[in-house]
Amino acid sequence: MIIEPKMRGFICLTSHPDGCEQNVINQINYVKSKGAIAGPKKVLVIGASTGFGLASRITSAFGSDAATIGVFFEKPPAPGKPASPGWYNSAAFEKEAIKAGLYAKSINGDAFSDEIKQKTLDLIKSDLGQIDLVIYSLASPKRVHPKTGVVHNSVLKPIGDKPFENKTVDFHTGIVSEVSIAPANEEEIENTVAVMGGEDWEMWIDALKTANLLAEGANTVAYSYIGPSLTEAVYRKGTIGRAKDHLEATAFTIGDKLKDLNGKAFVSVNKALVTQASSAIPVIPLYISLLYKVMKEEGIHEGCIEQIQRLFAERLYAAETPTDSAGRIRVDDLEMRDAVQAKVAQLWTEATAETLPLIGDLAGYKKDFLNLFGFDVAGIDYAKDVNEMVEIPGLV
Ligand code: NAD
Ligand code: NA
Repeated sequence: MIIEPKMRGFICLTSHPDGCEQNVINQINYVKSKGAIAGPKKVLVIGASTGFGLASRITSAFGSDAATIGVFFEKPPAPGKPASPGWYNSAAFEKEAIKAGLYAKSINGDAFSDEIKQKTLDLIKSDLGQIDLVIYSLASPKRVHPKTGVVHNSVLKPIGDKPFENKTVDFHTGIVSEVSIAPANEEEIENTVAVMGGEDWEMWIDALKTANLLAEGANTVAYSYIGPSLTEAVYRKGTIGRAKDHLEATAFTIGDKLKDLNGKAFVSVNKALVTQASSAIPVIPLYISLLYKVMKEEGIHEGCIEQIQRLFAERLYAAETPTDSAGRIRVDDLEMRDAVQAKVAQLWTEATAETLPLIGDLAGYKKDFLNLFGFDVAGIDYAKDVNEMVEIPGLV
């Protein structure tokens, strides 16, 4: 079929297998160009199909020849209906990994469930024995709690008695408007923490450890975000920030549990990037389009793969792993530079629908968004008939 982007709100309903494949190949080539990393050998990536998780899988495999198991939740294709992009990404990744002689298998299903955890444990046991790195990179709007059956929905709202009022952009139209978001109630805060906090990460590590599937010296890393004061009220001091506080606290709990294995648990604070998860957060797209402009001008812009390659090579598997005063790894260092933030804050005051195409990188935002779905990728012939029924070679 011929596949074109079909937009609805923050998402694109279609995705392009060749474009997704090219994105994965570009990321693989980037990692290879940076040279070998003395990194992990057997890796489990939870949330492995897009964004930072996919970049982690690619860096593990093509940076240090690791065997990888990827867990994700993606929509398979049906005749005439393309799969979700993470499906095509995973198919492309496994095709390339197998070509390179690397073990690569995938599990598609709800990582929050006991069933998918068990399936993953069984696969590790039979194929890899023990793993030495667990990347936790889920981003989900909801979680069915495996013990209570309760469905928790996350919200993106401020906390306190005042609504959050600021500028936002509809990145499809470029229209800048004022948004007002009412504060969350206690229940919404708790639900957001239940979805995006650290409970499930800890459940995964408990299950792996109990089953004796963690190697001596095994590490685990989950991803967090801090960001600037501009977005603080709705992000870091909002409901999602509470969840990130919980995730960061869980790193210490898990760290204690890994001590007898000489293992470590880290949170890495990453840069703001266009992913399916971040496009849905109010205000963030405007911030990202200004940030991209500034960081590209300074020559310090990075995507997911540059971030994760640097995380592995210069932080996690460096002789020393530098952390901040709260014990977190920081690869948001370039984003958070004073000069960068001062420039973004200035541009923020100037941003309108008229000025944004000039002062912000709206074009870069849109391109990155389309790229997530395999569209607008250089070298792809979108007029060509493609097979949407792509299989993931190592799907279990
Ligand atoms: P993403 O949407 O690109 O990736 C989410 C992944 O989770 C996908 O692989 C998806 O299949 C998987 N997933 C979602 N629900 C699942 C479920 N129930 N079971 C199994 N798999 C499921 O998101 P991302 O932006 O890469 O986010 C990953 C992490 O990085 C999140 O913790 C996010 O907060 C953090 N982070 C993101 C940014 C950013 O700007 N995007 C910045 C810093 C940190
Ligand atoms: Na991810």
